[in-house]
Amino acid sequence: MPGAIHAEGLVKTFGEVRALDGVDLDVPEGTVLGLLGPNGAGKTTTVRCLTTLLRPDSGKAVVAGIDVLKNPDAVRRSIGLSGQFAAVDEYLTGRENLQMVGQLYQMRAKAAKARAEELLEQFDLTDAADRPTKTYSGGMRRRLDLAAALVVSPPVMFMDEPTTGLDPRNRQLLWDVIKRLVSGGTTLLLTTQYLEEADHLAHDIVVVDHGHVIAQGTSDQLKARTGGERVEVVVHEREHIRTASEVLRGFGKGETTVEEHMRKLTVPVTGGAKLLAEVIRELDTRGIEIDDIGLRRPTLDDVFLSLTGHVAEARDNDTEKEAAK
Ligand SMILES: Nc1ncnc2c1ncn2[C@@H]1O[C@H](COP(=O)(O)OP(=O)(O)OP(=O)(O)O)[C@@H](O)[C@H]1O
Ligand SMILES: [Mg+2]
Repeated sequence: MPGAIHAEGLVKTFGEVRALDGVDLDVPEGTVLGLLGPNGAGKTTTVRCLTTLLRPDSGKAVVAGIDVLKNPDAVRRSIGLSGQFAAVDEYLTGRENLQMVGQLYQMRAKAAKARAEELLEQFDLTDAADRPTKTYSGGMRRRLDLAAALVVSPPVMFMDEPTTGLDPRNRQLLWDVIKRLVSGGTTLLLTTQYLEEADHLAHDIVVVDHGHVIAQGTSDQLKARTGGERVEVVVHEREHIRTASEVLRGFGKGETTVEEHMRKLTVPVTGGAKLLAEVIRELDTRGIEIDDIGLRRPTLDDVFLSLTGHVAEARDNDTEKEAAK
């Protein structure tokens, strides 16, 4: 499998810390794997092991058909990497940084120039192209770092938190770039703190915690594991809570929870939109006015919380708003 990523039993310790405690993962060629986990779970360490930047204590890894431990140089030539912390030369301009990467990959000067131009445009950096990157904001650096990873189009890409600190517009822009890349056949392993991003981009998701894989599957599979759908109702009058609760009991597949102060009732159901319509009719027949009603499915955030006991939270140390240094 020339474009696939395969890891088996990766272990990496730093003194007392067992950062990876036997990580297995498989990314079929041309697909996107979302690697999720709370801070310190081992995501960056996994990426560093797979990209030859760290040597695991034990385990094996094959990237793009090449044994990572036996042949790191060949692996390096077949992959692109964008790290959690942008690695750009502060004193070069954005354009120079991109051209330099092209030259490192032995592109002809003219081709490197053209590719740099294309990427500056794609990442909305044309206006800032001739400024030294030390004047860039955090979000601009991140975009430049991603552009640099894409100067050559390697069959396998690794992106460690590619959109942390990007504003919504630039996040969308990057998602589009990623989708185009993957539709062109690239295999991608990406870590992210934004579960919506994994939901949106990843074919498969692996959740790690304390250096272990604790869950894996498609977003839908993980959501199904966390529990099914619920009907949520907000009644207009507090006095109607009891009657509404009786109505919901008739439709529910479990206990109804009531948040008195919010006038909100929640009950697990099966039956989807059709059932929702029936609930609405019944509430109406009983003369219960509602402010809001909806069918809620578990989100990937719910999954993450139930698996790890943490709410996923992106760090804010590298934001678009950060003043130019
Ligand atoms: N070079 C190092 N020296 C010592 N400990 C390290 C080193 N790199 C990572 N660790 C430790 O290994 C564990 C995993 O770290 P890692 O950076 O892989 O986590 P992560 O999942 O990427 O977290 P984050 O979401 O914060 O980026 C942590 O306990 C971390 O402190
Ligand atoms: Mg990390």
